Amino acid sequence: MAAYKIIDHTYDVVVVGAGGAGLRATMGMGQAGFKTACITKVFPTRSHTVAAQGGIGASLGNMAEDNWKWHMYDTVKGSDWLGDQDAIEYMCREAVPAVHELEHFGVPFSRTPEGKIYQRPFGGHMSNFGEKPVQRACAAADRTGHAILHTLYSQCLKHQCEFFIEYFAIDLIMENGACRGVVAWNLDDGTLHRFRAHKVVLASGGYGRAFFSCTSAHTCTGDGHGLVARAGLPLQDMEFVQFHPTGIYGSGCLITEGARGEGGYVTNSAGERFMERYAPTAKDLASRDVVSRAMTMEIREGRGVGKENDHIYLHLEHLGAETLELRLPGISETAKIFAGVDVTKEPIPVLPTVHYNMGGIPTNVYGEVLRPTAENPDATVEGLMAIGEAACVSVHGANRLGTNSLLDIVVFGRACALRAAETMKPGTPHKPLPKDGSDLALSRFDRLRNANGSMHTSEIRLAMQKTMQMDAAVFRTSKSLAEGCAKMDQVASTLPQLKINDRSTVWNSDLVEALELENLMDCALATIVSAEARHESRGAHAHEDYPDRDDVNWQKHSLAWVESGKVKLDYRPVHTYTLTDEVEYIKPQKRVY
Ligand code: FUM
Repeated sequence: MAAYKIIDHTYDVVVVGAGGAGLRATMGMGQAGFKTACITKVFPTRSHTVAAQGGIGASLGNMAEDNWKWHMYDTVKGSDWLGDQDAIEYMCREAVPAVHELEHFGVPFSRTPEGKIYQRPFGGHMSNFGEKPVQRACAAADRTGHAILHTLYSQCLKHQCEFFIEYFAIDLIMENGACRGVVAWNLDDGTLHRFRAHKVVLASGGYGRAFFSCTSAHTCTGDGHGLVARAGLPLQDMEFVQFHPTGIYGSGCLITEGARGEGGYVTNSAGERFMERYAPTAKDLASRDVVSRAMTMEIREGRGVGKENDHIYLHLEHLGAETLELRLPGISETAKIFAGVDVTKEPIPVLPTVHYNMGGIPTNVYGEVLRPTAENPDATVEGLMAIGEAACVSVHGANRLGTNSLLDIVVFGRACALRAAETMKPGTPHKPLPKDGSDLALSRFDRLRNANGSMHTSEIRLAMQKTMQMDAAVFRTSKSLAEGCAKMDQVASTLPQLKINDRSTVWNSDLVEALELENLMDCALATIVSAEARHESRGAHAHEDYPDRDDVNWQKHSLAWVESGKVKLDYRPVHTYTLTDEVEYIKPQKRVY
């Protein structure tokens, strides 16, 4: 191995990732007096949170009566009873102060005529325990994530947090099961850096790019998941992948559910508003898994639109130019650029597209990463936290409600900073790092940098993405999943044949993509193997050979350990209790098909 010069840093806390979760945690850590570094592979305000459109869920009750307990009920129901109800209670209760806090930080929310935060309807959000839709999504037009991200970044700067921008985290530094820091590569000058910290917070986002068509940025490559898997820790509930009903046909770009919240609707080739048949009450605002399945059924049964009958139309024309300009300016532009459609005149061609990973790094309600054992399924890893889409806390269970992602990132970003403040003191002295602490990272970096096989990253990545898109789709069968596992096994076995053309260390995007591919591969393997093993249908996991939800055998979290391309599975119980006596455990009800 080449001798790499390493630059050392010491912090109380290091946050990996600068999306909404990472920035809220970084800011909170700074506010609590911790010397905090945030490492990010893209400039903070380019993180994927910037793409979140429709809103952040909170029962402010600005448009009609609302209650955090109704929000909790909807979230549990949306999760198809796989969510941990203690965590869901925490998130929905904290939603209201979290949004007010964002308002005070300076997020430019849209306003009602009386000057209150504007709220729009979103799928699955109902009043009075499922009675009728309620307007709960607090929106900044259709650029809510953008507004939140920029505001949080400015708050971090105010609290003197330090940023290491365009630094790629390669591996964790572990010692006797505890996390002691992280090794990162500065893409800009090629130097390697060892960050020592009492707490490492993984806020590295999802892994949408394991699939061929997704709404996620190209940077969503499961980097935190990879760090955790290589540290010998499990990933949780990875089989639950959310398809957003309205990705633009062809490009996959997101058209916010807020479009249907404002009155948009989908039609088939007969011009029929078919959601009335599938979900007579919520119709186009049924939860995402329900709408995605309905659209897929219509296409399968020959009622898709277009030359190939392979997509669906989303209509916004009837909303009028003024509303479109005021409430949906971003997607009006996106539809023009990516579908050539003038939304004031014609429908947008759309298709269910991979949008969100419900699964991820298991944590408790404080953001502490779990290392479940048979004796203690909630045992934690010292020094390691995870939040946001990288984590599985699990508030989304088997299916996330729209707007609960922006909520999750701010509530749990804040929660992990509060936990750190409760459990450690700023400036606590550090032990020396173990001598071999950086070996895993350096050997991985060196191996890939010098990889001299016969296959390019793009070739292996495409094979993975096509397999996942085809075999871990909206509808799954025993056959498609078994074939998918076999194909993914084969694809993963080609990783040692990687070829890197560029051996430099400065802005070597060839090497960046190879490092990302290894992370994605662990995620893809965990996803398909966990899906193959789950013999029921729940939330986003719609298994045609096991069409019913089976609470007796399967109301449990999947755990997947990935090592050298092989996946080992186990399970841990769902938290069937709440956090306080104020609410009772919500018992499973009939699954909505
Ligand atoms: O449709 C959307 O605006 C997406 C929101 C979300 O995923 O929460």
